Amino acid sequence: MKIIAVTNIKGGVGKTTAAVNLAYLCAAGRRATLLWDLDPQGSATYTLRAEAHQEATAKKLLAGKRELPELILATGYADFDLLPANFSYRNFAVHLAQRRHPTERLLKMSRSLREIYDVLFLDCPAGISLLSENVLRAADVAVVPLVPTPLSVRMLTQLREFIAREGWTDLALLPFFSMVDRRRSLHRELIDSTRAQLPMLLATEVPYRSEIERMTLERVPLPALAPRSEAALIYAALWAEIAPYVDGRRPALGGAPEPVQNGSPNTRRQPESTPATR
Ligand SMILES: Nc1ncnc2c1ncn2[C@@H]1O[C@H](COP(=O)(O)OP(=O)(O)OP(=O)(O)O)[C@@H](O)[C@H]1O
Ligand SMILES: [Mg+2]
Repeated sequence: MKIIAVTNIKGGVGKTTAAVNLAYLCAAGRRATLLWDLDPQGSATYTLRAEAHQEATAKKLLAGKRELPELILATGYADFDLLPANFSYRNFAVHLAQRRHPTERLLKMSRSLREIYDVLFLDCPAGISLLSENVLRAADVAVVPLVPTPLSVRMLTQLREFIAREGWTDLALLPFFSMVDRRRSLHRELIDSTRAQLPMLLATEVPYRSEIERMTLERVPLPALAPRSEAALIYAALWAEIAPYVDGRRPALGGAPEPVQNGSPNTRRQPESTPATR
């Protein structure tokens, strides 16, 4: 199972929007996919028309009193399940700090999902905390939506240095520009200068579009709502850049990519027990 974290210290940059659409597209490629909504706001849970869990608190999960597989809901889309948010996740970092090996708890908890899913997406809350450290420690891929401002670019450099300091060489850091307005010269200049500096930036840019914003109104992933729409095609292009890291065709750092084949292998393993339905 590969773990993809959609993360950024900054709020409101398009993390949840990307997580929902990318997880949907991942599942549409016949990979058994789970999206874990780690944000107490529960935006991904809401967008997928589910409800937050009431009693499966962060404390109980960390103490092993509740197991992740028993909390899984079906989204109604093939191969796509959801682990809904819980309001207690606002205290995740506090409870993590009270456990032994506090930076490895999320990775340990995710082991119970390994036999069931090919890919686990983590929709992370904004901020930098023990939870985000757990997320980066557990993840194979960190997808970072970046609004083109000088401060977001600075944050990315800090994140890159942090990952290097921790020695997480097997973590693929995949930033992409989000909420881009190409009519603004500041956006264009910043994108060009950042691309020259940071070659790992994904080529796909997600523009600022009301069509994308509407996803939270419609509560349907954009490629499911209108597969041929501009917005859906943009997320499909973004996913096409990320998928090779999941399918093992790209190393985390450097190295030439192997040729991308049409379609993706159906590596779905049958779950030992069927995930609960809504
Ligand atoms: N490309 C876009 N164009 C226009 N609006 C967008 C775009 N991406 C996201 N939005 C809207 O911006 C708001 C924030 O997006 P989203 O919830 O995805 O960000 P986030 O980074 O997950 O926020 P938070 O930090 O609060 O979790 C939402 O209302 C969303 O619909
Ligand atoms: Mg969010």
